[in-house]
Amino acid sequence: MALHCCNRQLLVLLLLYCVISPLLATATKRVAIFGASGYIGRHVVKQSVLQGYETYAVVRDNTNLDSCSEYFNGANIIKCDVTNEKDVYNAFVVDKPYDAVISCLASRSGVKDDSFLIDYHATSNCVKAAKIFDAKQFILLSAICVRKPLLQFQKAKLLVEKEILESKMSYSIVRPTAFMKSISVQLKLVLQGFPYILFGDGQLCKCNPIAEIDLAKFMLNCINDKSKHNQILEIGGPDVAITKKQQADLIFELLNKKPKFIHIPVGLFDLLINMFEWLGNTFDSKSLLDNAELGRIGKYYATEDMVTTLAQEKYGEVTMRDHYIKAIQNAGGEYDPYSMYLYDFLIDKKKS
Ligand SMILES: NC(=O)c1ccc[n+]([C@@H]2O[C@H](COP(=O)([O-])OP(=O)(O)OC[C@H]3O[C@@H](n4cnc5c(N)ncnc54)[C@H](OP(=O)(O)O)[C@@H]3O)[C@@H](O)[C@H]2O)c1
Repeated sequence: MALHCCNRQLLVLLLLYCVISPLLATATKRVAIFGASGYIGRHVVKQSVLQGYETYAVVRDNTNLDSCSEYFNGANIIKCDVTNEKDVYNAFVVDKPYDAVISCLASRSGVKDDSFLIDYHATSNCVKAAKIFDAKQFILLSAICVRKPLLQFQKAKLLVEKEILESKMSYSIVRPTAFMKSISVQLKLVLQGFPYILFGDGQLCKCNPIAEIDLAKFMLNCINDKSKHNQILEIGGPDVAITKKQQADLIFELLNKKPKFIHIPVGLFDLLINMFEWLGNTFDSKSLLDNAELGRIGKYYATEDMVTTLAQEKYGEVTMRDHYIKAIQNAGGEYDPYSMYLYDFLIDKKKS
């Protein structure tokens, strides 16, 4: 009888330990997030605070955070020039080492110099500092498209991935498919009365995109989930892969509009790329060569699939349908820097 009682007490204690220990582990851990002001970075900051981590959001400019303070409430803000190695070291001078350093840094343009400055050098500064200052884990926001590296930013990312693998630090390299907001720009155009632009027959560029909130949660799971340590993790959202045509059909269905399409041949990209490349080389012009790279980025995102298929490579609750519904309620939602050019260009043309 006494033994039975003792076993019950032990069981209760064990259960209590199982429930409390992950909470304690989370509460005491400190997480530094570089690129905290970016689209994914700010969601990682918000989730990190919500999950009880002591959160340090590292930004280049802390003067304009008021407009997005909802993401930074509860986080400690550190101002830092990530391109300067010494300044990055200063961001690590806190009383205890970070348990996890997360980099969501990314060049805002994607052109060669900027990519190597931010996606490689600045991120490499963070890797070096994490190692020197005994951070326990490095988590990198990379991209699934580095599997087929044709673009400068992909080459820069692969260099930093290699450095992380060689650093002997515990790491998780997260390679997401497309972000939902990045494939939503045409929703804004359709709302303005434009037809949906399809490259080729619209069957290209399949993806199962991931929502920002799901990606942020996945990245933070890399801290406590040991199965995600020392792994390159390709991750997409919960949908089956959908083509551009299927994405368009979904938009027209949700807006209750008659589908209208323009088909643009993919060869147009090659024409523009080759023209800028030739002009750039002939006139030794960096800005024309940068335009050629922007054309390559455009072609890549109009033609290449970004898909994960295995069950463990699909994550999250937000589907593309959910995202479009929310974006429609928000008059088109947020859009990303690459597609913004197209949006502004077409809207300006329509006004004039
Ligand atoms: N878009 C997609 O569909 C997709 C899919 C898979 C993976 N990814 C990858 O996800 C990553 C992050 O994407 P995102 O949309 O969150 O990026 P983002 O919004 O452009 O954020 C970039 C971050 O880097 C910082 N940064 C850029 N240039 C800087 C500079 N010169 N000095 C200091 N800080 C600088 C930005 O700071 P400021 O706010 O001060 O500019 C910002 O915090 C990228 O590497 C991308 O390749 C994207």
